[in-house]
Amino acid sequence: MGRPYTIMVSEVTIDGKLTLRKGVSSKEIMKYMDEEAVRYLHELRAKVDGIMVGAETIRTDNPFLTVRHVEGKNPTRIVPTSKANIPLDANILQKHAPTIIFTSSEAPEEKVKALEEKVEVVRCGKEKINVLRMMEILYSKGIKNLIVEGGSTLNWELIKYGLIDEIRLIHMPFIVGGTDTPTLVGGEGFSSFDEIPKAKLRAHFLRGSHLITEWEMKYED
Ligand SMILES: NC(=O)c1ccc[n+]([C@@H]2O[C@H](COP(=O)([O-])OP(=O)(O)OC[C@H]3O[C@@H](n4cnc5c(N)ncnc54)[C@H](OP(=O)(O)O)[C@@H]3O)[C@@H](O)[C@H]2O)c1
Repeated sequence: MGRPYTIMVSEVTIDGKLTLRKGVSSKEIMKYMDEEAVRYLHELRAKVDGIMVGAETIRTDNPFLTVRHVEGKNPTRIVPTSKANIPLDANILQKHAPTIIFTSSEAPEEKVKALEEKVEVVRCGKEKINVLRMMEILYSKGIKNLIVEGGSTLNWELIKYGLIDEIRLIHMPFIVGGTDTPTLVGGEGFSSFDEIPKAKLRAHFLRGSHLITEWEMKYED
C-alpha cells in the first residue's frame, strides 16, 4: 500500500517554537509574517491534495486551512483526534473544502454522528489513531501528496514513524522561550542518536524578510 508524499511545513521562531505560549494561537506570531512568506505557504497549499493539522491546533487556532493570497484549489482538510473532540462550530467543518476527521474506537458515537452530518469521519485505531493506517487510507482516497501544518504533537507522531518526506520552515525573527511552549517536534523524543532521523538541506532562500529552509528527510542513514 502507498502513502502520500508528506511535507511538514511550519513557521518557527529562532528558538524553534511554534507559538507564543502553550495554549496560545500561532496566529499571534503569524500576523508578523511578510506577505511574500504568507504566499509561499499558500502556494504550497494550492499544490497538494491534502492538508493535515492536529486537533489541538483546531481547538486553539480554529484555522480554515484554505488557499488564500494566491489562486488555487483548496486541499482536503484532515484532522486526527482520538475522541472526536472537534468543536461543532470549527471553521474546518464549513463547506469551503472537503474535510476528513480520523478518530479512534473510543470516540463517543453521538459526537461522531454530529460530525458526520457535516464531514467525513473515519475510525482508525483503538485508543489513538494508527497513523500508518491513516496514511494508507488517505492514499487510497486519492490524497497522493500532503502538507502537515503542525502542531508539535502531531509532528512527533509522524516523524516517529518515518512518515515525513520533507520539512519546510518559515523562520520568524523572534525568541519566545518557555519550557512548555510547543516546539517544531514534541512527544517523548528519540532516546539515542542512532534513532534520530537525519535531514539534508535542499534549499534556502528569502521570501520577504523571512529565511525559508527546505529539508529532505533521510531516514535510511
Ligand atoms: N507555527 C506553526 O506553524 C503552527 C502550526 C500549527 C500549530 N501551531 C501551534 O501548535 C500548538 C498546538 O500544538 P500541540 O502539539 O499542542 O497539538 P497538535 O499537534 O496540533 O494536536 C495534538 C492533537 O492531535 C491529535 N492527534 C495527533 N496524533 C494523534 C494520534 N496518533 N492519535 C490520535 N490523535 C492524535 C490528538 O487530539 P485529541 O486530543 O483530540 O485526541 C492530539 O491531542 C498551538 O499553540 C498552535 O497554535 C503552530
